[in-house]
Formats: sequence, C-alpha cells, structure tokens
Amino acid sequence: MVTSSSLGFYIVGEGHDGVGKSTQIELLSEYFQKEFDIETYVMHEPDGCAISGEIRTIIKNGTLERDAITNLLLFTASRHETWFREAMPVLQRGGIVLSARNYMSSEVYQGLAEGLGVEYVRQVTAAFMNERYMNPDITVVFHLGDDARKARIDKRKKAERPDTFESRDDDFIRKVQEGYAELAAQRAYRMISTEGTVSSVQKQFRTIVFQGLVKKGLR
Ligand code: TYD
Repeated sequence: MVTSSSLGFYIVGEGHDGVGKSTQIELLSEYFQKEFDIETYVMHEPDGCAISGEIRTIIKNGTLERDAITNLLLFTASRHETWFREAMPVLQRGGIVLSARNYMSSEVYQGLAEGLGVEYVRQVTAAFMNERYMNPDITVVFHLGDDARKARIDKRKKAERPDTFESRDDDFIRKVQEGYAELAAQRAYRMISTEGTVSSVQKQFRTIVFQGLVKKGLR
C-alpha cells in the first residue's frame, strides 16, 4: 500500500545556528545527484520559494517587534508554501528532499526558548502541513561547541545584518542548546558533532542516511 509517508525520502539536518547544517545538506544532495543520478531538492527553512524568501526577510528583520505566536505563524506560512509547491512534487516522483531545519526548529526556538510549548507548536504545524512533512525519514541533529559556533556566526554577521534569533541573549541561546539535546534524546535522533573536518562529518551523515534507506527498503 502506498501511504503518504512512503513517498520518496525526506532527510532533515537540524541544529543550532552556525553548526554547519547547510554545508552538510548541500554536500549530501550533490552526492546523491552525482553518484546515483537521483532527483533531489534542497530546502533551507525558512527560505524556499519566492513567498517564503520574502517571509524570511520579515522574520530576520530584528527591528520588527512581534511575539512568539507571530513568529510561529510566519515560519509555518513559509514552510507551508515551500513544502507544497516545491518539495512534495519531488517526493511524489520518488526523489529525495534534504532540508536544513524543519518544524523541530519551531519546537525548540518558539516552543522551548520562546515559551509556547512543544505540543502547541506541533499542533499548529500539523494543522497546516501534511503527514509526510510531519514524519521525516531521518532527522540528524548537528552540534558544535559554543566558541566555535559563535565564531562562525560572527564571520557570517559581517556579511549579513545580525538577525532576530542569532543576536538573542545567553539565556535564550542556552534554552535552544538544551532544547535540541532534550528533544533529540527523547526521540532517539542521531547527533553528529561538527567539530571535525567537513568531509569526516559528511561521512558520518551518509552512513546514518544509508542506514535509513536500507531500513525503508530503498537500498
Ligand atoms: P537563517 O539564517 O535563515 O537560518 P540558519 O541559521 O539555519 O542558517 O535564520 C533563521 C533563524 O530563524 C535561525 O536563527 C533559526 C530561526 N528559526 C526559528 O526560530 N524557528 C523556525 O521554525 C525556523 C525554521 C528557524
């Protein structure tokens, strides 16, 4: 029986700002395209299709005051558009969607750090997304020591203006850090330290993804 969760393969790379998720997701996508000639689609929430990109600009503008609910609704609107317009068609054709962040980010940032609660975030997300989105085949949480992570963010800030979430105080940063560790442990998600070289991290990431492909009977 073909259920919505059996469509294609959906991989999520999660983790705090500056841990190197996007680099790993991009490399894995290139690998699948080059080595296996598989159709892939890379998502980077809250970016994506045109409207999602515009929503991201609003989200990242730290001068626009708003509360946690508005943040959750903006992230949900952004993921709703990119998911249904761009990602679902790829999964329906049997391709692979690789995403830097998904609603786990909202659970951690809006649910735990901004105080809305994980269950509330899940319910709001589920109301506007589908079962396939809610159930990735693999979620890997990347992590990196605070000094290295902050150094990477500082480097990036020279290019972009400091944004809403990257410039929050230490208490917020600690809540995000602990939130990822707590949810990953509860859900038995695999965690990878990005302390090592990009290629050694990529090797670990691929191993975990291949285990998931085998489990799903796709390899
Ligand atoms: P961005 O520069 O787009 O992403 P990244 O840090 O992953 O390179 O910044 C998006 C910011 O929004 C980032 O600090 C994490 C935060 N965020 C949330 O608070 N909730 C969410 O649901 C998502 C997807 C991101």
